[in-house]
Amino acid sequence: MSKKVTVPEILGAKGKRKITELTAYDYPTALLADKSGIDMLLVGDSLAMVVLGHEDTLSVGMTEMLHHTRAVSRGASRALVIGDMPFMSYQASVEQALINAGRFLSEGRANAVKLEGGARVVPQIRAMVEAGIPVQGHIGLTPQSAAQFGGFKVQGKTAEAAKVLIDDAQALADAGCFSIVLEAIPSSIAEMVTEAVSVPTIGIGAGPGCDGQVLVVHDVLGLFDRFVPRFVKRYAKLDDLIIEALGKYKEEVEQSIFPGPEHSFVLNEQEAKKLGKS
Ligand code: KIV
Repeated sequence: MSKKVTVPEILGAKGKRKITELTAYDYPTALLADKSGIDMLLVGDSLAMVVLGHEDTLSVGMTEMLHHTRAVSRGASRALVIGDMPFMSYQASVEQALINAGRFLSEGRANAVKLEGGARVVPQIRAMVEAGIPVQGHIGLTPQSAAQFGGFKVQGKTAEAAKVLIDDAQALADAGCFSIVLEAIPSSIAEMVTEAVSVPTIGIGAGPGCDGQVLVVHDVLGLFDRFVPRFVKRYAKLDDLIIEALGKYKEEVEQSIFPGPEHSFVLNEQEAKKLGKS
C-alpha cells in the first residue's frame, strides 16, 4: 500500500509539480483512481447531478454526502479524500458548519472538506481550521449559488469582478485553506489569483496557469452527456462501451448463448443417477 497523500504534501507541491484532483462517489471508482495515482479525490456535491439525476447540486444533503464519502474513503488508501459540504450545511451558522464539517471526518472518514464561497464563509473556515479540519476553498462559478449568477456562467469577466475574486482567494488563504478551487474563470485571472496566494489553486475551467486541475470523473470517462461544459476533456467514451456490452448480454440471453457450460454448475454423475438425470 503506498503512502497517503497529506495536506502538507499538497501545500508543498505549489510551484514544484502539478496537483491532480478528480471527483469520486463510490468504492470501485476510488480504487481505480487511487491506482492511477490521482492526488486528491473530491466527493463532490455534483453527486446530485451525475449520479442521482437531479437538475442541480442543491438536492443533496448531509445524509447522501456522508454515505458516498464513506464509500470513497474505504477505496482510497493513497489519495487524500475531500468531502464537499452540501447546500445549507454550512451557510446558516458557524456552529452548524463546524459540526457538519466534523461529521465528514468522523463519520465519512474524509481527510478534508470543501465549501463554496469567498470572504462570506471565512468565519466558518477559521472555526474548522482551528478545530483541526483541513479546508479546500472554492470560488468563481460556485454551483450552489447558480441562481444568484443567473445560471452556470463564467465568472470574473470584468476588472471589478476579477478584483473581488483575488480578494476572496486571499481571504480564503489567510483563513487557512490548504488549497482553493477556481471554477469557470478566465485563464488570465486564474493566473493572477495563483500568483497572489501562497496555497495551491486547483482549476476547473480556469486554464493551465493553476497549480493543479480537477474534473468530474463521469466527464473524464464519458459517462455523462446531459451537460458538458467547454472545459471538459473526455479521456474515454465508456458510455458506448457500456451500451455495447449490455446489448451483447441481452442478445446472448435472448438467443440462449449465455449462460454456457463454463458459467454453469454440474451435479456429479452419482447424484444425477439418483435423480434419473444421467
Ligand atoms: O461538486 C463538484 O464536483 C465540484 C467540482 C466541480 C470542483 O465542486
